[in-house]
Parts: sequence; C-alpha cells; structure tokens
Amino acid sequence: MRENLKDFIEPGSEEEILLESLDLTRLPRHIAVIMDGNGRWAKLRNLPREEGHRAGAKSVQEVVEICARLGIEYLTLYAFSKENWKRPKAEISTLWKLLESYLKEEHNVLIKNQLCLKVIGQKDDLPSTIRRELHRVENLTKDFKRMTIVLALNYGGRAEIVEAVKKFCKDNSTDLDSLDEKKFANYLFTSDIPDPDLLIRTSGEMRISNFLLWQIAYSEIWITQEYWPDFRKKHLLQALVDFQKRERRFGDIHPR
Ligand code: IPE
Ligand code: IPE
Ligand code: MG
Repeated sequence: MRENLKDFIEPGSEEEILLESLDLTRLPRHIAVIMDGNGRWAKLRNLPREEGHRAGAKSVQEVVEICARLGIEYLTLYAFSKENWKRPKAEISTLWKLLESYLKEEHNVLIKNQLCLKVIGQKDDLPSTIRRELHRVENLTKDFKRMTIVLALNYGGRAEIVEAVKKFCKDNSTDLDSLDEKKFANYLFTSDIPDPDLLIRTSGEMRISNFLLWQIAYSEIWITQEYWPDFRKKHLLQALVDFQKRERRFGDIHPR
C-alpha cells in the first residue's frame, strides 16, 4: 500500500481490498460530486433537515482526505445550486453558517495539506460574509498544488453557459466566426480546470440537476443509493473500482 494511505486504511478492511484492486496509475484526474440526500438522511432519523447538512460536513472532510491521499488533482463539490434559493430561508441560512464554519475551521487543514480552494458559481450573489471568507481562503491557498477543491456555490450550468456567451460576445463582437469549443470553454468558470473524468451522485437520483452541463460531456457517471451524510471512503473507492472497469471511447470504436 502507498505510504500515505497506510494509516488511513485499516488492514484487512473492505477499503483495503478495494484499494488493492485499484490501479493507482489510472485514477481520474478530476472527480465531481453531487452531494445529495442530506434532507432525506435527516428525515429518516426524525431530525430537522439542517442536521442532515451538518452531518454531511463529515463526509466532505473524509472525501477530501481520501482524494488528496490518492493523488486526485481536482475534486469538485456541488454544495449549493442556483435553484437552491427556492428553499426555506432558515435552511438556506443554516447552509451558509455551516459553510462559514467549515471555512474557518478547515483553512488550517487546507494549508497543512497544500490544498487549493477555488469557487465556481455566481459569487456576487452570495451573502457578503461568505464572499469575504471565500475570498480570504481562496487567496490563502491559491498557490497550493497538491489538489484543488472546487466548490460549486450558487452554481447553475445553464447560467454559466449564458454568462460565457455574453463574455465572449463582449470580447469578440466582430469575430463570432472564430468561436470554437476550445475558445468557448475558456469563458466558463472552469477555464483552468480539466473536465471531470468521474461524476458521482449520492442518494440514487438519476439526474444532473444543472451541474457542469458543458464539462460532463464525456464524464463517467456513478450513482449510489447512499445519502451524502453516509458517504465514506469505502464508497469513493467503490466508485473508483467501477470507473476503472469502464471503457472510455469518446465516440471512437476503441478505448482511449
Ligand atoms: C443536498 O441534500 C444538499 C444541498 C442541496 C444543499 P438535499 O438537501 O438536497 O437533501 P434531499 O435531496 O432533500 O434529501
Ligand atoms: C443538487 O441537489 C444540488 C446540490 C447537491 C447542491 P438538489 O437536491 O438541489 O437537486 P434536485 O432538486 O433533487 O434535482
Ligand atoms: Mg436533494
């Protein structure tokens, strides 16, 4: 087992068996996660939805840690969609409070482990305290290269595409014919991030919910029934084992 995974994976555990069946030279560069099911997790336990969100923070910590130890380059977490503003005010304000304490408590962990934090989404419409805190942590961690955690906040895939079109037209109003896919991608929030190789969704929903519509064109999709607060390193390893069985052809007839 790789040295930096040793004290994180229990000998003889299911995780160890999964890890041993992985080819560590063929891991995805970029994993994106739709962290869903917090509310249902709480309901099952007769708890308020907010408790589900609180419990979900533990899953975030564990997934960040296993991905960093495995050497994944980019981990994108869908934390708040543009459509999530439709939810009750009290739930939304809990989500911001949790994010604020995550940023305050975890920024040392990010620094210690050389993890860079980057936010995608319409940041201007976030509460000002959150904006400030995000700006602070993004700045503190911007030069770290071990892994980039991309936090999707107030993010919507369609809105991102519309914004990119507007920006492109402003920059190139006389030269629309020059637009191609590569140039267009430079106008997305993810201009400096490779497309996800693997997209994970928890809680069994078979939909994309407006996440990274452009970027997931050829991502491998893995869906688990587990609710996000129950998602642990074991499930991440299961997703990776499954990912390595896929044949990615990108439209060709042979795997690429
Ligand atoms: C995901 O869990 C977290 C966010 C969308 C912020 P949900 O809150 O959507 O939980 P369910 O889907 O209602 O169970
Ligand atoms: C997607 O989950 C958004 C996040 C995980 C942040 P939702 O719970 O908002 O998605 P729908 O409404 O079930 O499609
Ligand atoms: Mg949901």
